[in-house]
Amino acid sequence: MRVAVIIPAAGTGRRMHQATPKQYLCLGGRPILAHTLEVFENLPEINEITVVAQTKALEFCQNQIITPFGFKKVLRLVPGGKERQDSVYNAIKALQRQDDYDLIVVHDGVRPFVTPEEVRRVIGAALEHGAAILATPANDTVKKVNHTGRIQKTLNRQDIWLAQTPQAFQAPIIWRAFVEAYGRDFYGTDEASLVEAIGIPVFAIPGSVYNIKVTTPEDLVLAEAILALRQQ
Ligand code: C5P
Repeated sequence: MRVAVIIPAAGTGRRMHQATPKQYLCLGGRPILAHTLEVFENLPEINEITVVAQTKALEFCQNQIITPFGFKKVLRLVPGGKERQDSVYNAIKALQRQDDYDLIVVHDGVRPFVTPEEVRRVIGAALEHGAAILATPANDTVKKVNHTGRIQKTLNRQDIWLAQTPQAFQAPIIWRAFVEAYGRDFYGTDEASLVEAIGIPVFAIPGSVYNIKVTTPEDLVLAEAILALRQQ
């Protein structure tokens, strides 16, 4: 079995309000992206990794993260696109031949706390069902709110799950989903939504609230706390 991982890390980090994009900010003395890559580098089930970085950060990413931390499974470093979806598509195109892979796993560069066990569970479910993602059931009551702040609807909490990554797919499924999405100019905020759009079932595997996406300054505070907990 051959499993390729795509790590989109080409965001600008607008919501972090810092000059350095969030994936390069340090957590416990190491860049967030290095923490994330380490999980996949050390997992025997993973054969290779493609990292996506902003065009202007390609050199930085190679010289400050991939080379010094010795990530040997990173076979490709490709430039990102305007949206996250464009970045992931650049990586898929760089893989070239879908026949070479059984599974393609996509994981945000800014989710450093995913565990090997969680990755294994998503891989197992994708092998069985074709497509699977890590997600957590909503604990809060979820409202649909319009631009004036007025609540339009209360959604049924039992049916609401919050999507995370990794998101894993049998190779022909993700390939087709991306080709068809671009054929229809469809944009989603994750890969699963593209697969759902072509009518292929995607399964949600219960994850952990610790698998945060480090997006805002508040997330950095949480990230330091989670790191401290893991180091105990
Ligand atoms: O923007 P969002 O929070 O969804 O970003 C999730 C991941 O996608 C981050 O690791 C970010 O660097 C990456 N991304 C990307 N290309 C973009 C936007 C985001 O690779 N154009």
